[in-house]
Amino acid sequence: MKTISIINLKGGVAKTLTADNMAHVLAVFHNKRVLLVDNDKQGNTSKAFGVHSYDEKSLSDILTARRLDPWEVIRKTRFENIDVLPANMTLIRANLEVMMDSARPQQTRLRDALNVVAKDGFYDYCIIDNAPDINISTINALVASDDVIIPIKIDKYAFDGLAELKEQIEDTRDDLNPRLRLAGCLITCFQRTDADRQGEEWLKAQPEYPVFDTHIRYSEKVTESTFSESPIAEYSRRSGAAMDYIAFVREYLRRGKQ
Ligand SMILES: Nc1ncnc2c1ncn2[C@@H]1O[C@H](COP(=O)(O)OP(=O)(O)O)[C@@H](O)[C@H]1O
Ligand SMILES: [Mg+2]
Repeated sequence: MKTISIINLKGGVAKTLTADNMAHVLAVFHNKRVLLVDNDKQGNTSKAFGVHSYDEKSLSDILTARRLDPWEVIRKTRFENIDVLPANMTLIRANLEVMMDSARPQQTRLRDALNVVAKDGFYDYCIIDNAPDINISTINALVASDDVIIPIKIDKYAFDGLAELKEQIEDTRDDLNPRLRLAGCLITCFQRTDADRQGEEWLKAQPEYPVFDTHIRYSEKVTESTFSESPIAEYSRRSGAAMDYIAFVREYLRRGKQ
């Protein structure tokens, strides 16, 4: 099972859309089995797949409970190849609880749970949708991951926090997870404006940040697709964003083979 963290310290850059649509494209177009982990208290990924709830166990229990079988938390979705490990607002408390409980390792709890899942050999990929933050649950995600993908929406402040995030990735790699690698930055919501073109050019000229060749075009269908709780390739297969997410996953898989 290959584990991929989708992360950026900024909100509204299409982290959730990238996690959910990458999962959908891998599942439907490449016939891969995917576990989507919702690591954001907002629970947007859980909502998008219809599994947001306060009555069932969630990621909070994975982080705080001892000897919990992770399979008790994983929910099925209407997509045969996509399951979700959901989150909700209890994650705020769970993060605090993990921070206070230094009797057990604090940074490896998600990894330990995902190792249990990986052993069963059911999933090909695990994709973690993160909150726009560095906190104990995002550090847990980095410790559990092989690859990091950073979605970036070009605007005046688009590159703020990128250096800090890269440092966090490097620290995590040095201290806790030597497998961790920055797979690349993915430009999202791309419009054919001078600002977007220049921003993309600038990023591609930075040797320390790998950037995917594919960018995700802005498309009005994307917001519509979120209201109908459909991945974009299902909602509007011919939209630019759908074609781009399909091309992006192909590029990701091709690069992984090299
Ligand atoms: N390719 C796109 N085209 C149009 N709108 C987009 C696109 N990607 C993201 N958006 C808009 O940005 C909003 C935030 O996306 P989301 O994935 O929730 O960001 P994050 O998880 O980083 O906070 C979405 O609700 C959608 O309206
Ligand atoms: Mg989100």
